[in-house]
Amino acid sequence: LGVLRFNGFGGVTLAAETFGIEGQPTVLMLPGGGQTRKVWTSAAQALADAGRHAITLDLRGHGESASSPDGRYDLDTLVQDLNSVLMQLPTRPVVVGASTGGLIALAALGEGRQELASGLVLVDAAPWLESTGLRRMAEKLSSHGAGFESIEDAAAAAQSLHPLKSSSPDLSGLSALLRKSEDGRLRWHWDPRFLQGFSVPDEDRLAKAAADIEIPTLVVHGGRSEIVSAKSMEKLVRLLKDGEIAEIEDAGHLVARDKADEFNALLLNFLERRFPRDPERYEAGSDPKTLRNALSCFGTGVTIVTTLDSKGEPVGLTANSFTSVSLDPPLILFCLSNASKHVDDFIRHKHFAINVLHIGQQPASTRFASRQANRFQSTPCKTWQTGVPIIDGSMASFECDREATYPAGDHTIFVGRVRMAEFEPRRDPLLFFRGRYRRLHFG
Ligand SMILES: Cc1cc2nc3c(=O)[nH]c(=O)nc-3n(C[C@H](O)[C@H](O)[C@H](O)COP(=O)(O)O)c2cc1C
Repeated sequence: LGVLRFNGFGGVTLAAETFGIEGQPTVLMLPGGGQTRKVWTSAAQALADAGRHAITLDLRGHGESASSPDGRYDLDTLVQDLNSVLMQLPTRPVVVGASTGGLIALAALGEGRQELASGLVLVDAAPWLESTGLRRMAEKLSSHGAGFESIEDAAAAAQSLHPLKSSSPDLSGLSALLRKSEDGRLRWHWDPRFLQGFSVPDEDRLAKAAADIEIPTLVVHGGRSEIVSAKSMEKLVRLLKDGEIAEIEDAGHLVARDKADEFNALLLNFLERRFPRDPERYEAGSDPKTLRNALSCFGTGVTIVTTLDSKGEPVGLTANSFTSVSLDPPLILFCLSNASKHVDDFIRHKHFAINVLHIGQQPASTRFASRQANRFQSTPCKTWQTGVPIIDGSMASFECDREATYPAGDHTIFVGRVRMAEFEPRRDPLLFFRGRYRRLHFG
């Protein structure tokens, strides 16, 4: 167990705690507004016991994290905090967010940062919230601003905010959430300006973010929640590309506290199914898909290889099996599936070209990997010495003489001798990794 510090947006220091063994798959846990990372302690411990690594984070202005110097607690600021924490982590964690923490995670990952995470768990958080429940919660929270005389008073206030059915408040747990102010009264461990600074995010914005999320997502709903309805959670899961839903019947908004054991079991089950701890294994004879997944761990650039068919018409397809081979003589290779419509064209024609794509050429990559008949229609090309198509504006193009072909399983290896190359290294490359297009990012 250790305490960590992250740099949040604008240099605000964010406090976090780690559980379990570093190097194991990480779960990053975000509390709701008005809570601290302590709400996740039991779940994080359960994850550590199951051999995983968990990090619980205090939102800015909460717990031991620094407050916003300018009182900014809007969604965009909190999203930037999460993005910068994700960029400081060495691995892509599963992000677990409850309530406001869930909304932050939804916006951050759905609005362009999902390559920084491998999965998402949303606990009682959806684009559509219940206005009556929200109003009641906001009123109660602002009445807490005056502070409490004693820990028992604070416990009563907490109980009225999030009623716990078996009502025997855990006073020792509560004391971690309180601090003594200068006037001698006890106040929650969060910046009261959070209530003014944070407003409930726009429904359409969050729904759009949800629709863009492709990573495995578990949505957990507390059956007695006043803040999120079962209907909203179901609507959310329908928007997600790879979502599943679980309801914990007798839990209120603070699902992970109300039904800790059930919640922890649910979370672990999701992680074991979707993010197994042991590395996946391929052995000769296993499903080739597993080998493909193993090979997809090797990140590559993307090219379009082109040649001419027997009628002299341009043909080409997307290929990432491009490799440099030799400088002297200048040789490169790529591998072409024998199932390709164009394998005979490449075997017959004496020349081919390799066009290395930049980030703006993703549409061309998609087109040249599709069944679309005329791939060249909207792809301006030129020719150099041999007449094979050179795609205009590529990051690099190599015009080659076919040097050799080698049959290799269900593919054919084409080795080319480079006649001429042109390149524009100031552009960013289009990348392909784990089955998805990627771009370079600078932390
Ligand atoms: C990023 C990416 C890389 C690819 N790399 C190769 C490759 O190296 N060799 C290959 O034969 N197919 C590769 N493909 C698949 C072909 O582009 C795809 O099957 C195409 O439809 C083949 O077209 P064809 O049958 O007209 O030749 C790749 C596809 C993508 C999206």
